[in-house]
Amino acid sequence: QTIYLADYQVPAYLVKTVDLHFDLDPAQTLVSSKLEMMRNPAGQGGALKLDGEQLQLHSVTLNGQRLSEAEYDCTDSRLVIDSLPDEFTLEIVTEIQPDQNTALEGLYHSGQILCTQCEAEGFRRITYYPDRPDVLAVFTVTLTADKAQWPIMLSNGNQVASGEFEDGRHWVCWHDPHPKPAYLFALVAGDLYCQQDSFTTMSGRQVTLQIFVDPENKAKCDHALLSLKQAMQWDEQAFGREYDLDIFMIVAVNDFNMGAMENKGLNIFNAACVLASPETATDDDFYTIQSIVGHEYFHNWSGNRVTCRDWFQLSLKEGFTVMRDQSFSADLNSAAVQRIDDVDMLRRMQFAEDAGPMAHPVRPDSYMEISNFYTVTIYEKGAEVVRMLKTLAGDAGFRRGTDLYFARHDGQAVTTDDFVSAIEEANDLDLAQFQRWYTQAGTPELTVECNYNQAEKTLTVTLQQSCPATPGQPEKQPFLIPVAVGLIGEQGQSLPLQLTDETQPIDGDTRVLLLTENQQNFTFINLPERPKLSVLRGFSAPVKLTQQRDNAELAFMMANDSDSFNRWDAGQTLFINILLALIAEYQSGSTLVVPELLTDQLAAILDNASVEPALTARMLTLPSENYLAAQMAVADVDAIHAVRSFVKRSLAVTLKIRFENLYQQLHQIKPYEFNAADLAQRSLKNTCLSYLMTLTEPVQVERCLAQMAQANNMTDLLAGLRLIVDVDGPQRQQALESFYQQWQHDRQVVDKWLTVQALSTLPGTLTNIKSLMQHPAFSLKNPNNVRALIGQFCRNNPSQFHARDGSGYQFLAEQIIALDKLNPQVAARQLGAFNSWRRYNADRQKQMQAALQMIADKSDLSPDVYEIVSKYLAD
Ligand code: ARG
Ligand code: ZN
Repeated sequence: QTIYLADYQVPAYLVKTVDLHFDLDPAQTLVSSKLEMMRNPAGQGGALKLDGEQLQLHSVTLNGQRLSEAEYDCTDSRLVIDSLPDEFTLEIVTEIQPDQNTALEGLYHSGQILCTQCEAEGFRRITYYPDRPDVLAVFTVTLTADKAQWPIMLSNGNQVASGEFEDGRHWVCWHDPHPKPAYLFALVAGDLYCQQDSFTTMSGRQVTLQIFVDPENKAKCDHALLSLKQAMQWDEQAFGREYDLDIFMIVAVNDFNMGAMENKGLNIFNAACVLASPETATDDDFYTIQSIVGHEYFHNWSGNRVTCRDWFQLSLKEGFTVMRDQSFSADLNSAAVQRIDDVDMLRRMQFAEDAGPMAHPVRPDSYMEISNFYTVTIYEKGAEVVRMLKTLAGDAGFRRGTDLYFARHDGQAVTTDDFVSAIEEANDLDLAQFQRWYTQAGTPELTVECNYNQAEKTLTVTLQQSCPATPGQPEKQPFLIPVAVGLIGEQGQSLPLQLTDETQPIDGDTRVLLLTENQQNFTFINLPERPKLSVLRGFSAPVKLTQQRDNAELAFMMANDSDSFNRWDAGQTLFINILLALIAEYQSGSTLVVPELLTDQLAAILDNASVEPALTARMLTLPSENYLAAQMAVADVDAIHAVRSFVKRSLAVTLKIRFENLYQQLHQIKPYEFNAADLAQRSLKNTCLSYLMTLTEPVQVERCLAQMAQANNMTDLLAGLRLIVDVDGPQRQQALESFYQQWQHDRQVVDKWLTVQALSTLPGTLTNIKSLMQHPAFSLKNPNNVRALIGQFCRNNPSQFHARDGSGYQFLAEQIIALDKLNPQVAARQLGAFNSWRRYNADRQKQMQAALQMIADKSDLSPDVYEIVSKYLAD
């Protein structure tokens, strides 16, 4: 069943207050709900339709009168009551079974914890309710449970009362003064360790901060607490947003479908996205945790205080909040590296989604299952769209716009149009054309051409745009594309950026051109020498850029562009050009030679490594196999793998001394700290090690083993383990075994152990994965296990997943079918590995199609899996 944005209607009834009582027990929990409701004066009237799924209905009471079964209609998704007064009190008692809940939506049991996940439509698995984001109500929640087993019981807002019963049970009452939609409701119960801190807000209010974890994780809370305080302070400074309750709580749970959830005052996190210690978490983990803690905290304003009218507006809160967390990370760490990593991920994941059968606009017009639309398009492309708004309005103008947005819509459920209008009105802009970024799917293609006129001393830049058709959108209108450009002279200096009809020179080395037509010319004047154009600086718009540049020009830009993002990007383009040329030669059976120009470039980068070590590590990293596949008309998995490995090894052979020297220089044993300098140092060091390990020399294996033996942190240990598992020999098994022996008690580390094996490119990887699925460390019911083993294999190990015999496809299809019975959201997510199935050769397409068909042929598929599999096959 498809739901359309065009069908939106305001709610027929509103909820003023909700009073919930939970009698908690994993086997059967009783939920009593008391709703003070009223007919919506702006609504269309009619019957009251409450959402509800997998509920056992005990009773319905209207204004104190218990209703008979004839007085309401109860289906497996709804409770409908006709003829109601304008105002009424409705009491509903339902029973649910948290123990049986493997979908992890609604109230479920994770380890020793009872917890909830309600976004997007999980609240309807708790009680009958108008489960839509534009119904906002004040919640009061009373939790009752056995005190010994459930000493801690939490919900949104402030704890207002508590007490004990004589039978060993106790109760706690929570009240949240801020009206909220049901998707922001949460409860948690368990025997939890609490680490506490506090934060003083900009107006001087004291806020209690608490992190609740399983007692075994009590040494892993510091980083998240620090990140939270950093986020609270950053949001005050960057957006003027202050926290609005006296307490802010975070809970870590082991079973969670996504990363984390911004429930009002009570964020619930996937343990992997919040817990960290130097011994168990890598630098990347520390970095991600800081950003996710920030993300969920920032939702308190962008999402909670101002929420979404309907789920088509999901990017209103997610795109904006991702943009906010990216800015937070950029301010606290390296802005250049943050931008590179964000764009790299956008191009690898979102461009592929936009080019595939699930392509959808940032504000979709229809969906079958909203859970399938928590996508890289809604999140990451949505963040790029907000970033462009900031570019168009300028820093101060954007802040004026967001101030207006928060002031105007506080307490409301609104649309992306409302967001754009606020930026527009605060800055006197016309953003009508810009709105196409929200409504048109597909990645625009931007073509750039330069013509220098020596006599006139002018450079004419021709910008052209087009956008490929996507499902349901054959034709596209031109976008408003902000194109940031700079001009570079022979000596690497910045040249003036004055356009034809301008009388004054322009300050700065970058300016933004606004492309609004399919094709436009921009002529720069006063240019005595032929400049090189640095275009789309900082990746000023989420587009695919085509610019004719030979390897020499790319090498020049890689060394001289003053925009660090474009320096990196020139390097990536150079890598891609060379790799694609070598792939063509490999396919025709020629001998491969790595061009000297590339080796020289990398030698120069290595010689200057100390200037910006984090950037250097990025510059040395070859584009991924998946990204290379996306650049080919027909993705040739085997050629890509062979050529990419060959190039990396050749570079290592030629530059061995440099890699070894740099490694030695960077390899220092000191206490672990999460700071920019140390992070950069470890990242560059481990990049060097990964090159050296391609040499398959015993001395390099020794070096890797020595690093592992000496490591006092997970970053260096895991970097070594990753490399060792790709070396066939006795040390491989031994390293894996001793790692497991040491860390088997720690789920997060065991997941890393599963992942390194899933990513091994040695033959037999799939066989090993199948046996790991029988290992006590693995459960198909745990989403982190599934992602660490199955997800990593299918998405990030292309040469194994796409094995010629189709075994990888068959394996994934079987797992999806099994998972769909347990957890539809996780099952549907895994289908993403088939997103680009049309881009492989005929044999592989046929095998992938058969695997998809095998899934589609199952009766009783979940709507989640059904929607994606049918869209993949229809394309
Ligand atoms: N709002 C959460 C976040 O981005 C995502 C939770 C969505 N969960 C889900 N099961 N669809 O922070
Ligand atoms: Zn979010």
